[in-house]
Amino acid sequence: LIASLEQVDQTYIMVKPDGVQRGLVGEIISRFEKKGFKLTGLKLFQCSKELAEEHYKDLKQKSFFPKLIDYITSGPVVCMAWEGVGVVASARKLIGATDPLQAEPGTIRGDLAVQTGRNVVHGSDSPENGKREIALWFKEGEVCDWTPVQSPWLR
Ligand code: TYD
Repeated sequence: LIASLEQVDQTYIMVKPDGVQRGLVGEIISRFEKKGFKLTGLKLFQCSKELAEEHYKDLKQKSFFPKLIDYITSGPVVCMAWEGVGVVASARKLIGATDPLQAEPGTIRGDLAVQTGRNVVHGSDSPENGKREIALWFKEGEVCDWTPVQSPWLR
């Protein structure tokens, strides 16, 4: 029908261990689906310390880094790749501020979380990091590029 002229990006979204433990996986996936983005990768995964450290390498010097790594490796996470026009910035808006007490109601963290160190979900902060993180968390063949039959208007 009408091809979008805008750049299609990818973002890495992850339900953190608290989100899995609290049974929030479906709720979180649902928010991105309803917005109209396209799911291209999805798995439940127990990550290693090494992978968590590589993912958060820019935060290595922060005092909270060891606790962050313990938290992320404390249980399985749900790894997702999502695709769409403006998906990186839009996903960050849907997720809300890092500190859930500052996150607006209506956002995932604003509705579902209380503590910064238990903020239920991750989203890439730039298209470059989206690509980097998807390559880090997914193996070749795990990300699926598919053509939606319905709703070409959104993609
Ligand atoms: P950051 O990349 O700053 O936030 P965001 O996840 O919103 O992109 O930080 C990564 C994670 O580190 C954050 O989701 C939770 C944790 N964190 C803390 O535990 N304490 C802190 O003071 C900050 C800033 C982050």
